[in-house]
Amino acid sequence: MNNFDFYAPARILFGRGEENRIGQLLAPHAKKILLHYGGGSVKRSGLLDRVTASLKAAGVEYVELGGVKPNPRLSLVHEGIDLCRKENVELILAVGGGSVIDSAKAIAMGVYYDGDVWDMYEQGKGIDKALPVATILTIPAAGSESSGDTVITNEEKQLKLGYGNSHLRPLLSVMNPELFFTLPANQLANGVADMMSHVFERYFTNTTHTDLTDGLCETVLRTLMKNALIAKDDMTNYDAWAELGFSGTVAHNGLVGMGRDQDWGCHNMEHELSAIYDVAHGAGLAVLTPGWMEYVYKDNVPMFVQFAVNVMGVSGSYRDPDAIVMEGIRRLREFFRKMGLPGTLAELGIGEDRLEEMAKKCTGAAFGSEHPVGGLKKLYWQDVLNIYKLVK
Ligand code: NZQ
Ligand code: ZN
Repeated sequence: MNNFDFYAPARILFGRGEENRIGQLLAPHAKKILLHYGGGSVKRSGLLDRVTASLKAAGVEYVELGGVKPNPRLSLVHEGIDLCRKENVELILAVGGGSVIDSAKAIAMGVYYDGDVWDMYEQGKGIDKALPVATILTIPAAGSESSGDTVITNEEKQLKLGYGNSHLRPLLSVMNPELFFTLPANQLANGVADMMSHVFERYFTNTTHTDLTDGLCETVLRTLMKNALIAKDDMTNYDAWAELGFSGTVAHNGLVGMGRDQDWGCHNMEHELSAIYDVAHGAGLAVLTPGWMEYVYKDNVPMFVQFAVNVMGVSGSYRDPDAIVMEGIRRLREFFRKMGLPGTLAELGIGEDRLEEMAKKCTGAAFGSEHPVGGLKKLYWQDVLNIYKLVK
């Protein structure tokens, strides 16, 4: 086990009706807030009306900025920064999923920065403060409700980059599983693929003596798969959504990755797909992950045997570990299929013409300084291209 520093202070208010006391929860922290949301689901569901009623009752003033798109855009972040400065906003409330929360975090740090907030994403500059961000989560997926990370798309440059800083961890997040009932089936599936990937990126490691976190990862993965299938057939099943929501937070608040080298190859490869083709992050991950597994497993066969046996329930001859691994990967593909997720880049509408360009952007080779991605196996641009081709 590696040395680590674990500090994950986001407060999570979990359960039915918790969003109705948001005004009360925020009043001690801010007199005026930015209410940030997406393309309209929060209006259609009536959630926004309940939130504004709660804010009014608690005497919290607000200005609104809706319109965050999945793969949140830098241009709206700039608009949000101007609005917060003009209106003297003291806190941002993100009502939505990862895209809204990530956009809120970008605005929160941009308010205190004189240059373009894109510098943080492109140059990894440090920050010493940001406006506090609170969230009301409407889709279990990105884990942004408890992470210090934000991922933004620069639409002009066709780049999607992440940035992490502890100042960006939300002050508090409300998670009421009932708010997930209105999700369409494809967003359930995308979210599950993303939450599983957040565990995979930490689980698949060459670090040894990680029994506790191995077990935590395996439990989160099994919980996600079991409850995803329940929710798929019964989209208003509170208990299944509760398991999915809590798992999503545990998958990405850092705990299950402590003491182990992490991978993040699939996430890096996926961001290239979203940046150019605007695909849903989880759908991209569902396509890439099984291909990545096939490509890298020979570098650590026991790790993948453990996954196949402990997570996918494979049994077989220990004298043929490759067969066990391949059956584990086959079952993962089958699960993604059952959830209605795509299995190839073609199904995502991605052809072969820009695969090399994406592979070179992914490792930085396109910009003259290559940094291989991935941990379990280091991937150079040729490897990334091979994986894209494996799942084309
Ligand atoms: O915009 P609206 O109308 O609200 O519709 C959204 C959107 O179209 C809809 N939706 C959300 N809640 C709903 C709902 N529809 C009906 N009922 C509800 N209750 O779902 C669609 C997707 O929303 P989005 O916020 O994009 O989903 P998600 O939470 O999966 O976020 C994806 C983004 O998070 C980033 C991804 O890269 C991607 O840009 N990530 C952020 C991370 C982080 N900050 O720590 C880590 C992740 O790895 C991920 O990269
Ligand atoms: Zn993700």
